Amino acid sequence: MKKFYIETFGCQMNVHDSEKVIGTLESRGYSQVETPDAADLVLYNTCSIRDKAEQKVFARLQEFKKNHKGKQFGVLGCVAQQEGERIFEKAPHVSLVCGSASYNSLPQMLVQLEAGNKRVTGLSLDTEDTFETPVTRRDNPHRAYITIIEGCDKSCAYCVVPFTRGPERSRTAESVLAEARQLADMGYTDIQLLGQNVNSYRDPRGGMEFAGLLREVGRVPGLRRVRFTTSHPRDFGKDIVDAIDENPVLANFVHLPVQSGSTRVLAAMQRQYTRDQYMQRIEWMKNSPRSIALSTDIIVGFPGETEEDFQATLALLDEVEYDSIFSFKYSQRPNTPALRLQDQVPEEEKSRRLTILQEKQRGIQLRRNADYIGRVEEVQVEGFNKATSQWIGRTSQNKTLNFARGTGDGELTGQYLDVRVLRAGPNSLVGENTASGNALQ
Ligand code: 5AD
Ligand code: SF4
Repeated sequence: MKKFYIETFGCQMNVHDSEKVIGTLESRGYSQVETPDAADLVLYNTCSIRDKAEQKVFARLQEFKKNHKGKQFGVLGCVAQQEGERIFEKAPHVSLVCGSASYNSLPQMLVQLEAGNKRVTGLSLDTEDTFETPVTRRDNPHRAYITIIEGCDKSCAYCVVPFTRGPERSRTAESVLAEARQLADMGYTDIQLLGQNVNSYRDPRGGMEFAGLLREVGRVPGLRRVRFTTSHPRDFGKDIVDAIDENPVLANFVHLPVQSGSTRVLAAMQRQYTRDQYMQRIEWMKNSPRSIALSTDIIVGFPGETEEDFQATLALLDEVEYDSIFSFKYSQRPNTPALRLQDQVPEEEKSRRLTILQEKQRGIQLRRNADYIGRVEEVQVEGFNKATSQWIGRTSQNKTLNFARGTGDGELTGQYLDVRVLRAGPNSLVGENTASGNALQ
């Protein structure tokens, strides 16, 4: 039996692609091992969103340059698509280069690898298919990803994704719902719908749009929490907020990447919305009776970003008061429109802005989280942290809420429990299980 090792970099789409790749390999008789040393086939599912992410895979491959006897190496995902056959030149011990739009041909590529072919590629972006597998290996028995749309038709000036994941393709609502029902029957309660831009989902058969699909998935019996990622503000309609308002199964958490608080920078980024239009979407959610938690992505130091633009982003943080943010220094990427822009922001200035931004947000999160002290929140238990002797819980708002082990606790992982919040930090909450013998009366 052939043994494979896989390491995954990047976003949840990549994590889920790897689950499908693992399912495909296992159904062909391969078995997964924990270290590259124990493997015959070493796979890296790669990310090229920023230069640092891309460099990681080349560092990994370098480790084996002189010592690869008896092993085959494969590069999958976004760096594979972006660099293509150049990878064979940079790392001659690689024999498989496959982008995410070609995963459906993986079984045929494996046959070629097994036959000893040293240059196997899957690099076409010319596909109308999404990657659907008969077997998907999921390690968490309670939470599962479902892809609803692949690729991206936007052209954000900084972004490689349209080049690495190709054009948008939606799955049929029928197959998405069949998968959701099947997962619920298997005992999964927590589902995350995935796509680069889930808001532009459109059923290729019936024309159902995203909010409709979200409503349908929320009605699948057995599911307790349904989330989705990632949204694009331009395509984010009020009907999505209405759907969340109507059904508590749809988690009250939305990730809505803003990238910048300056309309001028947003235009240069080709984001197709203004600061005011973005804020209108935030207002819809602030007005929701469900107290929807918000998170975002921000890039600092996009070419031409002035101190005034940066201040507009800081002011936006104050205005929105996100529950969490992901923030990045702008990184130049191959093929992207922003490469042509002059006026690069120096590295030290980007670092300075990032630190200021993150410190500001830390203060906001501390304040926001402190508001939860004394409240009772329902958590799904994700596991047990031996180091702190606490159960790890997650609220519908996607906040980590940990709580101490009670004297009579059995295995709680996967259960939904009411936890009273006792303490709050910037990144997590600590509480007590209201049903436990240890809870204060
Ligand atoms: N440089 C820095 N950050 C980037 N992102 C995407 N492309 C770049 C880039 N070239 C960020 C965006 C996006 C998140 C996934 O990564 O904020 O929303
Ligand atoms: Fe990285 Fe973007 Fe590719 Fe995800 S889609 S792996 S974030 S480059």
